[in-house]
Amino acid sequence: MKGKILVTGGTGYIGSHTVVELQNAEYEVVVIDNLSNSNIGVLDGIERITGIRPAFKQIDVCDKEALEQLFQEYPGIKGIINFAASKAVGESVKEPLKYYRNNLVSVINLLELMPKYNIEGFVFSSSCTVYGQPDAEYLPVTESAPRKKALSPYGNTKTICEDIICDTIHSGAPFKSIILRYFNPIGAHPTAEIGELPNGVPQNLLPFVTQTAIGIREKLSVFGDDYNTPDGSCIRDYINVVDLAKAHVIAVDRMISGKSLDNVEIFNLGTGRGLSVLELIRTFEKVTGVKLNYQIVGRREGDIEKVWANPEKANNVLGWTAKETVEDTLMSAWRWQLKLRERGLC
Ligand code: UD1
Repeated sequence: MKGKILVTGGTGYIGSHTVVELQNAEYEVVVIDNLSNSNIGVLDGIERITGIRPAFKQIDVCDKEALEQLFQEYPGIKGIINFAASKAVGESVKEPLKYYRNNLVSVINLLELMPKYNIEGFVFSSSCTVYGQPDAEYLPVTESAPRKKALSPYGNTKTICEDIICDTIHSGAPFKSIILRYFNPIGAHPTAEIGELPNGVPQNLLPFVTQTAIGIREKLSVFGDDYNTPDGSCIRDYINVVDLAKAHVIAVDRMISGKSLDNVEIFNLGTGRGLSVLELIRTFEKVTGVKLNYQIVGRREGDIEKVWANPEKANNVLGWTAKETVEDTLMSAWRWQLKLRERGLC
């Protein structure tokens, strides 16, 4: 066994896939989650894939006393991967304080407690949202592109958390951090044992696509076809969730084995390829053989026209690349949706 890693938000979408990859890499994993947007059954899926059920506590990362108890109960944690956060852009506009509290207090609590428990590394889930709409000269976007004013409280929490981490490290905190800026994570584990399980009506594109394909939603709305892109729909960099999860294992290895070049490092995690909404729909139809009922509607407020990553820093420094094709990734999401139906969960 390698070291012990705490994964906050470990029953969530990206968290659960990361727990699987950590366990595959022989890390011992402790999961905490307040189950506000996930369910305990995810642990069964993780166990079916890896043969190991991670330790689990239902804890809210904003509850500092509960965190203290956890660190005492599980001594020797070497690193933390922090996924626990609220992530719905629209909700954040309506309930900004919920977002500022959840997403900021949790990070502050963890950073405050790390020195006392000799925790060596902190991986933070950030987002390409910090770049806003990059100017043309910055596309594909590198880590040194300027951050722009966030368009939502959710996006702002990512920018502020990055600053909190950098300021803490620069003040001489005795640990390292790696900030990972995700582009658009999609797909599910190839076993279809875990995947994305949004509560209520999905806000993100792919869960809406798969729910429409299976008949839960009548039709998919494509938000705008009058953007300045080849087919008029928005362009994103869709990254396979298992590829994304693997980058977290590399980040943890790097920090706790003393390979970090800087006490805080930032990496884009994307494929380097931009795909439009309409291209994604067509590819989904092609690989699954399912016709999607969709209609073009007006633009969604706050949407970015086009953004995709330059992932060379992660490729060269971390030795990480996105390997899965978008076809296989879309198919994995579809298989997951079919599995949910088979289990009567949708
Ligand atoms: C947003 C956030 C991102 C965050 C992610 C997770 C911004 C700019 N981006 O990504 O930081 O990490 O959510 O929640 O804040 N679309 C449709 N129909 C739909 C749904 C989406 O056409 O029903 C289109 C959107 O207009 C967009 C693309 O699909 O062009 C992707 O949308 P979505 O999956 O919501 O992700 P982002 O908005 O890119």
